[in-house]
Amino acid sequence: MNSDTTKQGNDDLDPARLPAHVAIIMDGNGRWAKKRLLNRVKGHEQGSETVRTIVRISREIGIQYLTLYAFSTENWERPKSEVSALMMLLNRFLKNELQEMQDNGIRLFAIGQLDRLPQPVSTTLKETIALTKNNTGMQLTLSLSYGSRTEILDMVRDIAREACQGKISAELITEDLISSHLYTRNMPDPDILIRTSGEMRISNFLLWQIAYSEIFITKTLWPDFSKEEYLHILKEYQSRDRRFGKITT
Ligand code: FPP
Repeated sequence: MNSDTTKQGNDDLDPARLPAHVAIIMDGNGRWAKKRLLNRVKGHEQGSETVRTIVRISREIGIQYLTLYAFSTENWERPKSEVSALMMLLNRFLKNELQEMQDNGIRLFAIGQLDRLPQPVSTTLKETIALTKNNTGMQLTLSLSYGSRTEILDMVRDIAREACQGKISAELITEDLISSHLYTRNMPDPDILIRTSGEMRISNFLLWQIAYSEIFITKTLWPDFSKEEYLHILKEYQSRDRRFGKITT
């Protein structure tokens, strides 16, 4: 699972074998700041520059879905000052990037308990989603106030409600039905899950959806994660043999 993804190089990718969906756990902003004796917020600010770089290159190479873990349900427990700084950063990012999203055909989407977001972010988010909804270049999904167990719980409750109303029977509950009740219902499962900062954890991210994702963990802290390292991971992905539990002959 761990992989030496720190090499840089001019990676030429096979366009026919690009992952359709890349999911990223962006970790290490705090450590990046601490190493420089800076406030953690500076790490998040630098991290949002990396978001910009990775969104841009993903769109350029033809990734169809990019899903970023920007704020988890557990992140609400951080000090108030850090939470509000993150929310302001997010608001600023959405406002600053709108033009670039429009110019490059990026459709914004968000998953999570979005009703918990403070009003200014919530308003900007809704506006950006509405303004970009007809773009077809790439879907950028921000996971905000997201937790996979909550998502699964919501799905189970929805299906139970439909069953109680007599709309479905137990036999009709299939994997596809479950997928169609998750927040990610309109996207394919991630082909790749990348986690920065070296932690060997999933941290409550897309637990159902990553069943067959290829996992890449790099020690690089998110603010230092570069276009070159990203391309190197995508190149390595193309050399992996995805068997989905079967065998190759
Ligand atoms: C994890 O690093 C990162 C987060 C909790 C927030 C991610 C936010 C950004 C990358 C910037 C803003 C996002 C967007 C979409 C503009 P950490 O704080 O847990 O780092 P640590 O583990 O080193 O303390």
